[in-house]
Amino acid sequence: MKITKAIFSGSSRVATDRPQPRLPEFAFIGRSNVGKSSLINMLCNNGSLAHTSSKPGKTQLINHFQINEKWYLVDLPGYGYAKLSKKIRAELDDIIRGYINGSAELVNLFVLLDSRHDIQPIDLRFMMELGEAEVPFSIIYTKGDKLSATSLSKQIKNNNETLMEYWEELPPFFVSSSVKGTGREEILNYIETLL
Ligand code: GTP
Ligand code: MG
Repeated sequence: MKITKAIFSGSSRVATDRPQPRLPEFAFIGRSNVGKSSLINMLCNNGSLAHTSSKPGKTQLINHFQINEKWYLVDLPGYGYAKLSKKIRAELDDIIRGYINGSAELVNLFVLLDSRHDIQPIDLRFMMELGEAEVPFSIIYTKGDKLSATSLSKQIKNNNETLMEYWEELPPFFVSSSVKGTGREEILNYIETLL
């Protein structure tokens, strides 16, 4: 699929305030700093669409980007950044859960995991919650440029084994690099199959 038009449609704190018109949505979630906003920019070929930062905790609202006038990419705040105050973390958790549980338009949630690290308990807990709420999700291993091909496949194999301890079947998964553009076609083609 080709993205011919990508525009920022608005930020919201609660799902009911999301922009009109209502269209199918594909959202990105994961720990703070995992690369959600960068991936949206990479998919749209636009480095300044979503705001990114080397410091965790950058995205603090629900941000909708309308694609080809037909569907939305949705950038969400990250979870699990210990350095934010308890109050702000609780607010972000409310925003994330409110979005996920109040989105009839949500077609698929991409859960982003840093391909350099083992899956963290907070990621596993989050995915278990998604399973219980029957929210369809897939996994994207981010920052694939940061390790060698051998270490990458080893780490992914390792993580998939961890996931298999909790799930009978692996969710679809992708590897991405927002620096190199890796995974762009696979992810966009996957979205197209779900539209
Ligand atoms: P929050 O909004 O804070 O939750 O973070 P985020 O998940 O949106 O992360 P963001 O896209 O802002 O990226 C965080 C940092 O990681 C930035 O310094 C990015 O440049 C860097 N980064 C993101 N993706 C990649 C990638 O694929 N490769 C490399 N090398 N760096 C990346
Ligand atoms: Mg962000």
